[in-house]
Order: sequence, then structure tokens, then C-alpha cells
Amino acid sequence: MAHDELPEWARVNRARWDELVDVHLASEMYDLADLRAGAGRLVAIDEVELPLIAPEGWQGLRVLHLQCHFGADSLVFAQRGAEVVGLDFSMPAVKQARALAEELGLGERARFVCANLYDARHALPEPESFDVVYTSWGTIGWLPDIAEWARIIAWFLKPDGRLYFADGHPAAFVFDEPALDAPAALLDGGPALFPPARYGYFDETPLDIDEDGDYADPDAQVENSRTIEFMHPLGATVTALIDAGLTIDFLHEHDAVPWQMFSVLERRGDGLWGWPVTAWLPLGMSLAATRR
Ligand SMILES: C[S@@+](CC[C@H](N)C(=O)[O-])C[C@H]1O[C@@H](n2cnc3c(N)ncnc32)[C@H](O)[C@@H]1O
Repeated sequence: MAHDELPEWARVNRARWDELVDVHLASEMYDLADLRAGAGRLVAIDEVELPLIAPEGWQGLRVLHLQCHFGADSLVFAQRGAEVVGLDFSMPAVKQARALAEELGLGERARFVCANLYDARHALPEPESFDVVYTSWGTIGWLPDIAEWARIIAWFLKPDGRLYFADGHPAAFVFDEPALDAPAALLDGGPALFPPARYGYFDETPLDIDEDGDYADPDAQVENSRTIEFMHPLGATVTALIDAGLTIDFLHEHDAVPWQMFSVLERRGDGLWGWPVTAWLPLGMSLAATRR
């Protein structure tokens, strides 16, 4: 993938993701001990919901993991017997994923491809070849065109194949971290006193953001601090999947997410981060859909 073939948003974001691979490998959040012990686990929400889409388990299923990062989640499916293909546009992430697969003896069952998501059909010319497309937690906010995302998923799924998608809830993404760094607003005043949102829920213009730190390591010194991100209202995402030929099997909203989205959130026993008092606003969402 030649660098100059990428649009600006992808070049800017990829530089950051390339740099984050080492930061994440060193972080507590991306602890690989269970995976290395042969018993990798996905985040709690996915563990609860994925049996709904693969009730007979993963043995022999072909799984496409879009935006797989350095492959930790992809390799969980391989450990459970699936044949998995992970796709990510960061070469350092893909190299690390391949190395991890070899280290774990899963090289035969896990393949990693480096490509921009929008080039996936060229990078992986295998239409209708996957039982499951999996993509979760920190994905579509990096993608400008949600309709094309949905069409790509539909293109790869076998008839009756299923998508599992989980991510931050777009209603929560309107808030800025500093705005939510005021627990008193939540504890004493609740929504009425809540600070103003930073982004519009229906924003169609890309969000040009320049911030220090990282979700897995707030103290990380990251040179590539700029990102270009995109808002996708829930209705737009669901409608894109329907328009692409998928039937929605469930759509769930969650009061917790796998990372500390706002500093007011507290870690729960299941490893997710939720509201300290009442479940005020949805923080996460997940859905399953079947290709007709
Ligand atoms: C937060 S990770 C999501 C995976 C998983 N939840 C995790 O935490 O490991 C986001 C991934 O999306 C990838 N990514 C972002 N934009 C992409 C694009 N246009 N095409 C392919 N991959 C992309 C990044 O390189 C990164 O590895």
C-alpha cells in the first residue's frame, strides 16, 4: 500500500496507529497473558453476546476481523478453532499480529493483511467467503463512509453469514473528556447541569483533533497526536447495514465500555468502565446482523 495513495485522513490516522502499537503492547489494557496461556478472552460484552451469533462455537468457522489492530482479538477466535483473517492498515500492527500468531502456534489458522478498509475487496479478493465478520471497539469513528463500510461487510459475508459489531455509542462521543472531568455534575446535578457537548451528534464534517495521551495509556507521549475522526449517528449505521442487504438481529445499548471513555467512569468487576452512580447515558452499543 503506497503511502501517497491514501487520502489525508488515512495518512494522519495511520501515522498515529503505527506509533500506538508499541504503546499498547506495553500497556496494562492490552495484557496478553491469557492469550499467551492459550485462553484469550474478548471484552465482557462480546463474550456475552458472541454465543448468540455462533451458538455452536467457532470450530471451523471463517472469521474476518476488520481493523484487527495487532491481532489479539483475532487470535482468540483462532484459539477457539476458527480460521481468521485480520485486516488493518497499520503495517507495524500487522507485523506484530503475524509474530504473535507464530509465537502462539496459530500461524496456520490466522492470516493478517495490511490494507485500508476501503481497499479490502482488492486486498482480499474472496467475496462471500466468511461466516462471520467481527469488528469492535474503536472502529467506525476512523472511517468516513459508513455506507461503503456496510457494503464491504456484506460483500465478504456468505449468505446467512453474520456480522458482530460493537463500539462506543455515538451519543457518548459528543462529549469531550474535559467536559466530563467533573463528577460533581453527574453526582449532584445530573444531566441538567451537564457541561455542553463538544461535537454535534449529526456532525458530517470530519473532526480534526489534536490531543495528548491515549485511551490505553493517558500518560503516553505520542508524537502523532493529530487524528481525523468521524461521527456516525446510530440510525445511519443501522440503515447502512440494512441498505447493504443485512437484517438486524439485535441492537443493544450498554452503560459501560472496555476503556475509560471519561475520567468519571469507574472500573467494574467485569473489566468494563461504567457510570459511578446511575446509568445516565449509553456508553456502548452492539449489534448483530445477518446477510440475506
Ligand atoms: C482501537 S483499534 C480496534 C481494534 C480493537 N478493538 C483493539 O482495541 O485492539 C483500531 C484499529 O483500526 C485501525 N484502522 C483505523 N482506520 C483504518 C482504516 N481506514 N483501515 C484499516 N484499519 C484502520 C487502526 O490501525 C487500529 O489498529
